[in-house]
Amino acid sequence: MPERRQVAVFGAGYIGLVTGACLAELGHQVLVRDIDPEKIRLLRSGEVPIYEPGLGDMIAQNKERLTFTLDAQEALDGSEIAYVCVDTPPSASGDADLSRVWSVVRSLEGTSHLRAVVMKSTVPVGTGSRVRAALDAAGLRDVGYAANPEFTAEGTAVRDFLHPDRIVVGASDEATARLISELHEGVVGPVVVMDVRSAEMVKLASNALLATKISFINEIATLCEKTGADVEEVAQAVGLDHRLGRHFLRAGIGWGGSCFPKDSEALRQLASNTGYHLQLLSAVVEVNNVQKRRAIQKLKEELGSLVGARVALLGLTFKPGTDDMREAPSTVLAARLLAEGAEVSCWDPMARPAETEPWTSTSRYATPEEAVEHADAAIVVTEWPQLEEVYWAGVVRSMRRPVLFDGRNLFDPAAMRALGFTYLSVGRP
Ligand code: UDX
Repeated sequence: MPERRQVAVFGAGYIGLVTGACLAELGHQVLVRDIDPEKIRLLRSGEVPIYEPGLGDMIAQNKERLTFTLDAQEALDGSEIAYVCVDTPPSASGDADLSRVWSVVRSLEGTSHLRAVVMKSTVPVGTGSRVRAALDAAGLRDVGYAANPEFTAEGTAVRDFLHPDRIVVGASDEATARLISELHEGVVGPVVVMDVRSAEMVKLASNALLATKISFINEIATLCEKTGADVEEVAQAVGLDHRLGRHFLRAGIGWGGSCFPKDSEALRQLASNTGYHLQLLSAVVEVNNVQKRRAIQKLKEELGSLVGARVALLGLTFKPGTDDMREAPSTVLAARLLAEGAEVSCWDPMARPAETEPWTSTSRYATPEEAVEHADAAIVVTEWPQLEEVYWAGVVRSMRRPVLFDGRNLFDPAAMRALGFTYLSVGRP
């Protein structure tokens, strides 16, 4: 049994809630603090403000060890470790906005039991040194500091936390590294200890490399379309080389989410702040933008014009298994379609699109079948498993023009064409 610790977790978003719930599951006493009264009210009444598989059950099962508060001092009272899990969105200059991080650091002043501050938020390389200086200035010289970036993916975050490929701990001293390693006892995965700056870089480099793999296969997909090759066959065989790996080689309409777009921008900004231009990553981002424009282009070529056309978007979230709409390709597609004069209908089982454009100008339906009725074209944007249950033989008859653009290569081209669809996909003949 690991030694039980009392931990304060700042931030009750995707990262904070998963971190808090999993640390409680490991046996620690956890106090989660957020500044949003509605979030804390929901959590106290047993509801979870976000959708993440398994998270609700884990919070319910650990309720004696998990409390929620609006009060930073209450969270810190008796806590030995403070986790920073607040968001760090891009600011006007392109640098990460660290105001929420600094507000947490300021609230630590005067704490007596604290032994370590752990940064889980994604921050620019060098932030740790600045936090260290702030802690020293606040008289918290004996409090250790660690960068402990998270690599959990939405939809599988609970499993990823408890069974990670690695736990990266960048610590300012050995005692802090040991403390954070011990805190993870029960987690099945190796702990990799390094200096703070390297740990900060691991997070940004990992996400950039994953995004690079996707953009790379998307470019190969475009080339497959032009040469008659099949990207699915290519990706499978490329991925069998263990040096390359089979993951993140699924061609599609591009990557989105809360991490890849933000972190690639953050890494580019970090580089330009040092006077260096990251050429490869800039191309990776551009390929991702082009990928969405190409989807619209293909529809335009098929329909002649998009003016007055009714186009259904199937799936809105940036990937299945989440309700997260951050940087979802669907938002770009909807806005582009509206700009081209199309009418947009949509379906998604989980998404909570913002009540702003383009979503205020689209009609949302409860089922894929309803969204697609009388449409001139449908786009599979998110590969929700529900789409595989759809009776497509019926759908093809309900559409005005049976054009289906499968942006996630979910279906067999021959089977869809046999049903009567004009079937388009990514990188397949
Ligand atoms: C990612 C990282 O995987 C995770 O380690 C990090 O902590 C946060 O960022 P997440 O954003 O939840 O996690 O989603 P992920 O599953 O990585 O997918 C990101 C985007 O890439 C999605 O839009 C997805 O549809 C797309 N994608 C993924 C592809 O287009 N092709 C692939 O092969 C894989």
